[in-house]
Amino acid sequence: MDAGLDPLLQTRLAALSKANRLRRLRPWHWHHGTLHDAEGRVLIDASSNDYLGLSQHPLVKARAAEWAERHGAGAPASRLVTGTRDITLAVEERLAAFKRCEAALLFSSGFQANATVIPALATVGAGETAIFSDELNHASIVHGCRAARAKAQIFRHRDLDHLDELLRHATGRKLILTESVFSMDGDRADLPALAQLAERHGAALYVDEAHATGVLGPQGRGLATACGGAVDVVMGTLGKAFGAFGAYIAGSRTLIDYLVNCCPGFIYTTALPPAVLGAVDAALDLVPGMDGERDRLARNAQRLRDALALRNYDTLASSTQIIPAVIGSEEDALAAAQRLEEAGVLAVAIRPPTVAAGTSRLRLTLSSALDEEDMRQLLDAVATSLPLRPQD
Ligand SMILES: Cc1ncc(COP(=O)(O)O)c(C=O)c1O
Repeated sequence: MDAGLDPLLQTRLAALSKANRLRRLRPWHWHHGTLHDAEGRVLIDASSNDYLGLSQHPLVKARAAEWAERHGAGAPASRLVTGTRDITLAVEERLAAFKRCEAALLFSSGFQANATVIPALATVGAGETAIFSDELNHASIVHGCRAARAKAQIFRHRDLDHLDELLRHATGRKLILTESVFSMDGDRADLPALAQLAERHGAALYVDEAHATGVLGPQGRGLATACGGAVDVVMGTLGKAFGAFGAYIAGSRTLIDYLVNCCPGFIYTTALPPAVLGAVDAALDLVPGMDGERDRLARNAQRLRDALALRNYDTLASSTQIIPAVIGSEEDALAAAQRLEEAGVLAVAIRPPTVAAGTSRLRLTLSSALDEEDMRQLLDAVATSLPLRPQD
């Protein structure tokens, strides 16, 4: 390695450490669905995105194992070479039907999908595409905007008047980017209103359903599905409520055909392995029938928001299974996470640059796999271990 590189990196790491923004990888162990820390202590998991507990579901694990046994551990190549199998196409067809779209295309991850599909869409045809992106959109969307080399115009979070004003001044092709459930605030975009705005301004609408898929909308099909085809491009992930891995884009047949031909992040990468496809296939069997789990998740999320409100924590506009407890400084957020962990609850502190400076927080996420005893322990820990905040 270049002799000058490490000192440079160390300087950067030291600055992050001084600002309480240094991140470290900690090992976690899951034994039969229970989370243990490195010392073997059992913790309530209030930080994962496994919202329906499917990563531990017997059917999901069994089909992953069965498809690996039958089809092999890995895909042998990229999709356009020998990486497309009948099972790949069958899972894509099922995903399209689940999202009530004409077609769907698998991607290696949600990050990769956003990072590569957005530039592929923004650079089609002559002239520029004006991109409009919610200020709280995920880092992968931001990455996609940068890769598009288009100047993205950032609209204030969920502020449709601001977006309307920006759109009014724009010319040429227009692309609006939003999440349906925002990953760090747990609030929802108003998709029907966004769709109307997009139509009025002749803009295409791209919706990231990473945190809605499986959890919200009719039978867990996401919030875009409830808009009846008004969303042009839907991105969803398979490593969250689906308990597996990977992502997909769903939309028109033409959109998918275009991406197969013109999206480098799809073309030049190895296909998803059979075990992942098997897990996704099993999740597709299960998710539509999990309304009982979704109802419990929503009820428990409200209980947690109420418990945090009693300690004067701002949970922003959360109305989902993602519940922020805003604290402020990095140091205080880390201390709060530590206190909860000592009380047996894992609630990781989220700090800048993931969230804005001064809004470091605990990002609590719930799973329908948490039983009543888990919830009682979690709510007790919030009531007894989180410092009471001064009232605003
Ligand atoms: C809104 C959003 N989009 C995309 C991603 C990336 O998905 P993946 O984990 O599959 O790369 C995430 C992951 O946290 C996310 O929160």
